[in-house]
Amino acid sequence: MIEAGFINATEAPPRATPQIKLHGPEAFAGMRKAGRLAAECLDMLAPHVVAGVMTSTIDDLAREFVLAGGGVPACLFYKGYRHTVCTSVNHVVCHGIPGPKALKEGDIVNIDVTVIVDGWHGDTSRMYSVGGVKRKAMRLMDVTYESMMRGIEAIKPGARLGDLGAAIQEHAERQRYSVVEAFCGHGLGRVFHDSPNILHFGRRGQGERLVPGMIFTVEPMVNLGRLDVALLADGWTAVTRDRSLSAQYEHSVGITETGVEIFTLSPAGLHTPHESGLTD
Ligand code: MF3
Ligand code: CO
Ligand code: CO
Repeated sequence: MIEAGFINATEAPPRATPQIKLHGPEAFAGMRKAGRLAAECLDMLAPHVVAGVMTSTIDDLAREFVLAGGGVPACLFYKGYRHTVCTSVNHVVCHGIPGPKALKEGDIVNIDVTVIVDGWHGDTSRMYSVGGVKRKAMRLMDVTYESMMRGIEAIKPGARLGDLGAAIQEHAERQRYSVVEAFCGHGLGRVFHDSPNILHFGRRGQGERLVPGMIFTVEPMVNLGRLDVALLADGWTAVTRDRSLSAQYEHSVGITETGVEIFTLSPAGLHTPHESGLTD
């Protein structure tokens, strides 16, 4: 029996639905494969994120890697987007468009990749530092990563979406950073962006109840300054209105009978710039 508000994913139409799809073991197996290829793509990119490299080169490397690995880049031609990854540098909050612009020493950059493998979507992003970065930038990245992980740790059957949002928001705001409210995580599976919306702020005990079989992303964006964002004229690039630095991490996760499974863990252990060995 499936509770009101939910739908068995195997019987659901192959599109976004207002009901939350509940997935079985086959979906989890598919998500594991897709998540792994996406995470391996981000691992592969790490040594290439250096001063002088254009973000379009990073996009080329990602596209070739995904295709060679038996996947299809989900963002390519998605709603008119023409690239494999989003590259969001410094004050860019998300959806930065790769182009012929070189990274420079001291930049921080989020690379977000989504792959489709056997119809399943693996969606993940990480921060990279270009050479040595300022301590306040490193701290923003560390706190954003920790915020995401605290949100993920709050996920288990019976918890509420508000528990997840509150865990993220509390950790970020404790450091006097702000959590972006204009973008959220999303259900995914055979569909790229599905319900529910995953807010990265909220109140404990509120929001949808978490149920085994739910699959979604957790992808908080955290700003050094205010939370307000502006959209550039290209229609994609979101920036902080006050031009303060912004960081983001993203994992795709599924709720199990006992807790949560992360589908997009880095096989190489490159979770944050601190652990990548590329900075001091
Ligand atoms: N990967 C992004 C997400 O986390 C979506 C990017 S859509 C694109 O949901 F079209 F900009 F690529
Ligand atoms: Co996402
Ligand atoms: Co993403």
